[in-house]
Amino acid sequence: MQYTAIKLVKRPALSITPDVFEVVTLETPELQDGQVLLKQTHMSLDPAMRGWMSDDRESYIPPVELGDIMRSSGVATVVASKHESFAEGDQVAGLIGWTEYAVSDGTGLNKIPPGVSPEAVLCVLALPGLTAYKGLMDIGKPQAGETLVVSGAAGSVGSMVGQLGKAEGMTVIGTAGSDEKCQWLTDDLGFDAAINYKSDDLAAQLKAATPDGVDIYFENTGGPVQDIVFHRMNAHGRIVVCGMIADYNTATPAPGPNWINIVKKRLAITGFTMPDHWNEVPEMMQKLGAYLAAGKLKYRAHKLDGLESAIEGINLLFTGGNIGKLMVKL
Ligand SMILES: NC(=O)c1ccc[n+]([C@@H]2O[C@H](COP(=O)([O-])OP(=O)(O)OC[C@H]3O[C@@H](n4cnc5c(N)ncnc54)[C@H](OP(=O)(O)O)[C@@H]3O)[C@@H](O)[C@H]2O)c1
Repeated sequence: MQYTAIKLVKRPALSITPDVFEVVTLETPELQDGQVLLKQTHMSLDPAMRGWMSDDRESYIPPVELGDIMRSSGVATVVASKHESFAEGDQVAGLIGWTEYAVSDGTGLNKIPPGVSPEAVLCVLALPGLTAYKGLMDIGKPQAGETLVVSGAAGSVGSMVGQLGKAEGMTVIGTAGSDEKCQWLTDDLGFDAAINYKSDDLAAQLKAATPDGVDIYFENTGGPVQDIVFHRMNAHGRIVVCGMIADYNTATPAPGPNWINIVKKRLAITGFTMPDHWNEVPEMMQKLGAYLAAGKLKYRAHKLDGLESAIEGINLLFTGGNIGKLMVKL
């Protein structure tokens, strides 16, 4: 049987252009003992992919090699199995890649419990929810009554961070790139305030929204809000550095705030990446599942249609065109 896949064939200069990909037609091989054939149904698109396309050998994960199928996580149905742990019809999640079909030996594949939708997996139980949980709960250590600011708040990680903060009894302020996104945060997700970082007078808006200062800053973006939030931090505040998407397509990263406040306010600034914590995933998934079952985590899937829509669609992450978790429905 033939299927379509997309290979990375060039490294992007700055932004991701279609010529870095090649669409190929492949034949499914004969299954060997211990293998499964997967038909991917939902493929995740993530900002981290920009880093995986670069020839950066010092990052937390090696780059995708030129000529390889582009890396991504996704949800798939097992359509044939010669593996004792997987049966035809099982729904699984794992690193599947930009491809309609894949052969796997089961490494890194997790079975999805019946009744859980692929959207719920990719929006909550996979990378976005896990990242939000790890960063906020284990690194930020929220206390009821404290104030949390999260940037990229209408994105997949940010929207989970804010809702977890609310569930923990925090005052939560999000920053996002449009009034529509800000309205979604306050009206639907229960944020206490949301600030459009593309509007004027950001410092005054943030001051008004954080009369008691900021105890946790969950940093997803960098950009103009970073320095302003940094100056609103309270003593013993925690800054959780999850991502810096504002810098991913730039030649030179923006300079950071002056470090003197780290001393004066005894701040803890911690970077983290989820791949360091895969061993904690089963436990974190259970905790996220409990928030989900209690109705404390709403999610929104932004779905593109068909594998090849990923080629242009991935740039929605960098233009702010996505609301909620960006994914491709195959
Ligand atoms: N550390 C980890 O393990 C880990 C894991 C997952 C994700 N991350 C990081 O978390 C961040 C969010 O990822 P996500 O998957 O949840 O993506 P996302 O927030 O769903 O999508 C990206 C969003 O970033 C915003 N953005 C794009 N360019 C920007 C800029 N120049 N300045 C400010 N905001 C900008 C856009 O929203 P606006 O309309 O609001 O601009 C866009 O919708 C990324 O930095 C990602 O690399 C880290």
